Amino acid sequence: MEIIEAQNYDEMSQKAAHLILDKVKRTPSLVLGLATGGTPVGTYQHLVKDYQENQTSYRHVHTVNLDEYVGVEKDHPTSYHTYMKDHLFNHIDIPIQQTHLPDTMAPDLQAECQRYEELIENLGGIDLQLLGIGVNGHIGFNEPGTPFASTTNVVELTASTREKNACYFDNPFDVPKHAVTMGVSTIMKSKQIVLLVSGKQKAHILYKLLSEPTNEQVPASILKHHKNVLIIADREALAELKQNC
Ligand code: PGA
Repeated sequence: MEIIEAQNYDEMSQKAAHLILDKVKRTPSLVLGLATGGTPVGTYQHLVKDYQENQTSYRHVHTVNLDEYVGVEKDHPTSYHTYMKDHLFNHIDIPIQQTHLPDTMAPDLQAECQRYEELIENLGGIDLQLLGIGVNGHIGFNEPGTPFASTTNVVELTASTREKNACYFDNPFDVPKHAVTMGVSTIMKSKQIVLLVSGKQKAHILYKLLSEPTNEQVPASILKHHKNVLIIADREALAELKQNC
């Protein structure tokens, strides 16, 4: 596990974007795992800026997103389908049919979870998975206590996750209670993982992840057992770790 320190959020985002661009240029048919939330927004901004300036092509890239809310239509402003279009897909040349998120409006969600697992497998697995981390240590929507062996599944969101994500909804009661997420083992099968961590509100969980033994109460702690993980964290996120070393 390698850790790169960035001075601030923008430098973290730039470093992540450079890494992704380098991969896309070397492997035009890259299978890129993507995340939503506040953390990767800056990374996507840098990718869009690069596209405007250098036209780096994504014509042969496939993307697979970590998760999607259950009960939110694809074209609803708060869906992760919309987030990805707004922040990235509408601004680069990736064919939209090569972008994949769980279809949470599917009539049979268990079958959809199975389909998503098979889709990833049929694409040859994820070459590079971008991750954020929840303040409770979740990755994707794998909340504390999720078995490390989990595959893509329907999960119940914790109160703290729903509270944190309420800012994206007009009414906090509208925050969905469930989501479909890649499982912990699905994420761990990725060939490379890049975890982005920014801000002082993430300092404690980053410290916990790196200092405590691996356990299912901190889903991200499993990342210590992956052979190719890069953490790009800004100074604020690294503060507690540095204080205690
Ligand atoms: P955030 O969410 O990027 O909005 O902090 C990260 C996560 O919940 O995985």
